[in-house]
Amino acid sequence: MTEEELKLSYFETEPVPSHILEKMEECRKKRMLVPDLNLIKRPSQIEGIREASRINTMVLDEVAKQIHVGMTTQEIDDIVREFTHSQNAICAPYQFEGYPKSVCTSINQEVCHGIPARHRKLHDGDIVNVDATTIYKGYYGDASRMFLIGNVSEARRRLVEETRKCLEIGLEAAKPWNTVGDIGAAIVKYAHSRGYSVVRELGGHGVGVDFHEDPFVSHDAKAHTGMVLVPGMVLTIEPMINAGKAGVCIDPYNGWTIYTQDGKDSAQWEHTILITETGNEILTY
Ligand code: MF3
Ligand code: CO
Ligand code: CO
Repeated sequence: MTEEELKLSYFETEPVPSHILEKMEECRKKRMLVPDLNLIKRPSQIEGIREASRINTMVLDEVAKQIHVGMTTQEIDDIVREFTHSQNAICAPYQFEGYPKSVCTSINQEVCHGIPARHRKLHDGDIVNVDATTIYKGYYGDASRMFLIGNVSEARRRLVEETRKCLEIGLEAAKPWNTVGDIGAAIVKYAHSRGYSVVRELGGHGVGVDFHEDPFVSHDAKAHTGMVLVPGMVLTIEPMINAGKAGVCIDPYNGWTIYTQDGKDSAQWEHTILITETGNEILTY
């Protein structure tokens, strides 16, 4: 079977339950944006995504064990690549649209897509996001965490902690029959209440069968807008929260790394979640 035929076979062998199809039809009548059926993962697909996500969690646990002051971001890349391969899995970032490394390591004013390098050391007081995505048996799991390096200032620790809270608040809004916009609305409200801003140009995404699937998950959105969340959808929530203004710019030399425009700090946490009939399940714990 070709990959395309395999995908289509799920429609027949593991159909979407009729009570969910009926609810989707009600939503469509209310003029809500309803996901395509291929965005609703079937049990065998969910099992695959669950395994990929579990390995991805082990990868980040391994980084957590070894990360330290004075280490280079290339060493983090080496840990991620070697550990992932030891699990017979693949690092999704490597050669994704030309990305040169196996993981993203974004320090301080770097918002995301920091590229590991031999010349880049973690200094005392840095905050760093490590964003890993694992492919296992063709399925994807995607998550990132912040790490505090040595003695970190109160302001930076607060940013990291409040950003984790933003992810939690987004998770609480990610319930079936809410919309994608409800997630971003909850996050931006909280971030602003803490004096922070929310990056708008990048966001979460559907994930599981591909690296980046629909829908785009904005972290600065309006409630009751965007695609309705249906049980079986798998997506990431990954707020990028800035200490200063929301504006970002891209590295003109490597074409990847995103920085805050004002040079102030940024933090990010990410989980891959499954929308269930009662709420959601975090697959990358
Ligand atoms: N892991 C990132 C995300 O959360 C994507 C990184 S793409 C890469 O969507 F090419 F930079 F790795
Ligand atoms: Co990621
Ligand atoms: Co992601």
